[in-house]
Amino acid sequence: MMARLNGALRRLPPGAVYLLGLIPLAWIVWLTLSGGIGADPVKGIEHRLGKVALWFLLGGLAITPALRLLGLNLIRYRRAVGLLAFFYVVLHLLAWISFDMGFLWGQAARDLVKRPYLFLGISALVLMLPLALTSNNASVRRLGRNWRRLHWLVYPAVALGVIHYLWQMKVISAEGWTWAGALVVLFVLRLPGVNRLRLH
Ligand code: HEM
Repeated sequence: MMARLNGALRRLPPGAVYLLGLIPLAWIVWLTLSGGIGADPVKGIEHRLGKVALWFLLGGLAITPALRLLGLNLIRYRRAVGLLAFFYVVLHLLAWISFDMGFLWGQAARDLVKRPYLFLGISALVLMLPLALTSNNASVRRLGRNWRRLHWLVYPAVALGVIHYLWQMKVISAEGWTWAGALVVLFVLRLPGVNRLRLH
């Protein structure tokens, strides 16, 4: 069954994943233009972009366990998923600076002081920056083993992103706990010993 799925996936080039990854953006644009984004369009756009970023971030973390645990091979899509996560975090930041803050830097600085969880989001983005910049083949070759070391940054980056999301809620919802649980599971699956578990 998994061999068949892996075989079928061989026909899906990574380039197609970049295109598929733009569907959520098209959907957000459509909702905005059609008036379906909600009573507060700024929050509607901002929140949806953040949520899509979270999907790609955790989706990216799920790729290695999916191979080890289930035998599902999505490794060649990992770069696309990571870059899409970065893309949506950048759009999320731009939505805040433009629609929410109106490019008023003083107001943005005051907002940062007022809502410290924004610092966590920005820290996550800063940690993702070197990963995005070194995601090309030339950097992977040039950095060699250091490239793998550098990619350890993905763990604090995703953790900060999830904590930022949980913190901005007044009370953590069931959905919030689900994301937190998913993060913990994805981290636990990487622990020595646990990472040898196989279901295939
Ligand atoms: C890895 C990085 C990040 C992730 C995964 C992320 C994710 C999220 C998510 C999922 C939400 C809430 C969505 C909802 O409730 O439906 C959110 C809210 C928000 N995020 Fe981020 N975010 C990140 C980085 C940033 C950055 C860099 C900024 C820029 C300062 C930022 C600013 C905000 C703001 C202003 C809100 C809305 C808070 C409110 O409504 O009170 N985030 N983020």
